[in-house]
Amino acid sequence: MIIHVKFLKMVKTVYIYTFGCQMNVHDSEKMLGVLQKEGYSQANDPLMADLIIFNTCSIRQKAEQKFYSELGRIKPYKKKKPDIKIAVAGCIAQHEGENIFKKAPYVDFIFGPQNIHILEGLTSGRTAPVAIKDNPEITIRDLPAKRSDGIKAWVTIMYGCNNFCSYCIVPFTRGRERSRPSENIYSEVKELAGKGYREITLLGQNVNSYSSDIDFPGLLKKLNGVGGIERIRFITSHPRDLSEELIDAVSGLSKVCEHIHLPMQSGSSNILRVMNRGYTYDDYIRKISSLRKKVPGISITSDIISGFPGETENDHLFTIKALKEIEFDGIFAFKFSPRPGTKAAEMQDHLKDEIKSERLSEILKVQDEITTRKNRLLEGTKQEILLEGYSKTDKEKLTGRTRTNKIVTIPKIDIEKGTLINVLITKGRQHSLEGRPVEK
Ligand code: 5AD
Ligand code: SF4
Repeated sequence: MIIHVKFLKMVKTVYIYTFGCQMNVHDSEKMLGVLQKEGYSQANDPLMADLIIFNTCSIRQKAEQKFYSELGRIKPYKKKKPDIKIAVAGCIAQHEGENIFKKAPYVDFIFGPQNIHILEGLTSGRTAPVAIKDNPEITIRDLPAKRSDGIKAWVTIMYGCNNFCSYCIVPFTRGRERSRPSENIYSEVKELAGKGYREITLLGQNVNSYSSDIDFPGLLKKLNGVGGIERIRFITSHPRDLSEELIDAVSGLSKVCEHIHLPMQSGSSNILRVMNRGYTYDDYIRKISSLRKKVPGISITSDIISGFPGETENDHLFTIKALKEIEFDGIFAFKFSPRPGTKAAEMQDHLKDEIKSERLSEILKVQDEITTRKNRLLEGTKQEILLEGYSKTDKEKLTGRTRTNKIVTIPKIDIEKGTLINVLITKGRQHSLEGRPVEK
């Protein structure tokens, strides 16, 4: 019994709340990796943890609100358990800096996305209360990540963004573009393959402008040679920087999957100009045509913003027309959310929330019909899926994804996760497909 108490005292635990994008999900894996080295283990319940980290997102106001409401819920526990440490990380920490302490004095320390390494000083008490400096060394210091999946892994290839799209907070929170040396990425991917990982997703705000000792198509070629890795994906691509060389790489490299996430944002060239996207709708369409010509069967997904300042009914109709013309496999659509400090937030002609919502509903309705129709067209086709494990909603079923990144549910079979199997698609639904295993 006494030994048990000693053990509990030795092992500290951490609970991380993660908000927002894949970049943040992977940053949380890095935080866990660093903290594991510092002797922390993961708590299943925030109230049992010695350290709570909020890894925040500021891309839209909704994500910010969610964070502040969770932070407020933790306040009473700090009173009950004053030893508990509370940290705010991620984009809100970077943007708000010390203001966070004014809003929530019970927060102990804050650090931005470029300063995750400061967690290394936690046990020795060297961690400063505020760490939001620009960190040019971020590409050199490889932090250990504690990944939970075992089959699919995220790998950061570049940090930051130089684009300054007029609505976007990211360049302010994640700093300028910096690419990791290709050798570091290659070593990480080889190590992952050695641990049994089968799929990697290369992460960056704008992977097409990856620029180190080699360019992005060169990086894909290098990683395509790593034995054991079966599939390579990447997010996010910027339409302006999507080159023919990259399209050729997706077409020619066996492990690079036939899926691209290519945020269009709007179907109106006028709005694209004020968004500072650097392409017109016609430019975008040309890229789509080339992708579909060179990579038959490629699935294309996109992001759309509804109700950008000054968006007329006509601009909106251009977006609707674009959705019908392009027929994306899926989209993420958002109401424009003014982000303090961005150009778009300062623009004069903001739309009423009601209009933004109406346009968003219309966009989603049009796309839902297209997504379902496209998924139905897959009925009767044979697809290769990478088995990921049990379905979240039905333990009698397994799920996996096609190379085109569509989720397929199949009846439970005695095959290990991480295996590539062929399935016949029996049903196409809006959000997923159903199938059954078939011979190669
Ligand atoms: N308002 C609404 N959506 C936004 N996005 C980025 N900034 C904003 C904003 N201020 C969307 C874009 C981007 C995706 C990650 O989030 O569509 O591609
Ligand atoms: Fe934001 Fe534009 Fe950079 Fe994407 S490319 S992160 S939307 S500034």
